[in-house]
Amino acid sequence: MNPPRDKSVTAIYPGSFDPVTNGHLDLIARGANIFDKLIVAVARNLDKDPLFDVKERTEMLEAVTFDWENVEVDVFDGLLMDYARAKGARAILRGIRAVSDYEYELQMALMNRKIEPQIETVFMMPAEAYSYLSSRLVKELARLGGPVKCLVPPIVDERLRAKVSQKQTRSH
Ligand code: PNS
Repeated sequence: MNPPRDKSVTAIYPGSFDPVTNGHLDLIARGANIFDKLIVAVARNLDKDPLFDVKERTEMLEAVTFDWENVEVDVFDGLLMDYARAKGARAILRGIRAVSDYEYELQMALMNRKIEPQIETVFMMPAEAYSYLSSRLVKELARLGGPVKCLVPPIVDERLRAKVSQKQTRSH
């Protein structure tokens, strides 16, 4: 028989969040609805060079998740599964937008399962309206002066504008 365990379920929603988009927020809302506690975990060390540093990414996430009592924002280093274990999490939440996300996500989920079989990866789909949305495209749009207002929360829109104009001033 399995040992008795805490019935409340903590899930980790890990990512780069460079920056958080309306698609991420949609997933946070869905996750907060089914898990007792959702920790949005910002990866400190990324292979890619982030536009926003970890403090900025965290600040924006804290501002936009303020109203959810069961959502917490944190930063993690190293292996995701070590962090998830330390937090007592039972699930990893990841979003799948389109078939193109599937292969990478499957690979990551299976590798994470190999590392820690007790923690499940749970995939959720954001609303169709966000199926084309990514932080990478948002950054590209912002850099080229395209409309990002309807794709990100207002605080991210402001920070993106400030960041882009700061970069442009520096390069002149
Ligand atoms: O938003 P992203 O960039 O798709 O998030 C990817 C992230 C940060 C969740 C992933 O790269 C990760 O978990 N990094 C932590 C290091 C780790 O555990 N790597 C092994 C994954 S199988």
